[in-house]
Amino acid sequence: MLMSMQWIEVCAVDEVPREGARVIERGRGVASVAIFRCGDDAFFAVEDRCPHRGGPLSQGIVYGHRVACPLHNWSIELETGQAVAPDQGSARTYPLRVARGRICLQASALASHDVSPAPPACPTSSACSGRHGR
Ligand code: FES
Repeated sequence: MLMSMQWIEVCAVDEVPREGARVIERGRGVASVAIFRCGDDAFFAVEDRCPHRGGPLSQGIVYGHRVACPLHNWSIELETGQAVAPDQGSARTYPLRVARGRICLQASALASHDVSPAPPACPTSSACSGRHGR
């Protein structure tokens, strides 16, 4: 049986700031999705949770096709969700397409609750650099 791929509109292109992100909430207990817009107007959808300690990637600095996490500055490849070496780990990515000025995500992926395991919480010490205890 052939199944057609369903896409869901989540926002307009103009609602995602260039070199920034917009968060799409998915419901209680499920990681949100961050829609990233790069300087060249490439768009990517990535779980809004850093693979290091769960930082909000949507609040990071977008450069090239990467985002630097706001908590401890890991860089994440937006296309793959992979941390840039020497750091290791990945955030889930979601199929995305742009149609008629709207951002669409693949419905089955968006509805999935099969999220990556929650990373360990960051220690509460203000001296935490995030470069320890991986
Ligand atoms: S939580 Fe993202 S680098 Fe530490």
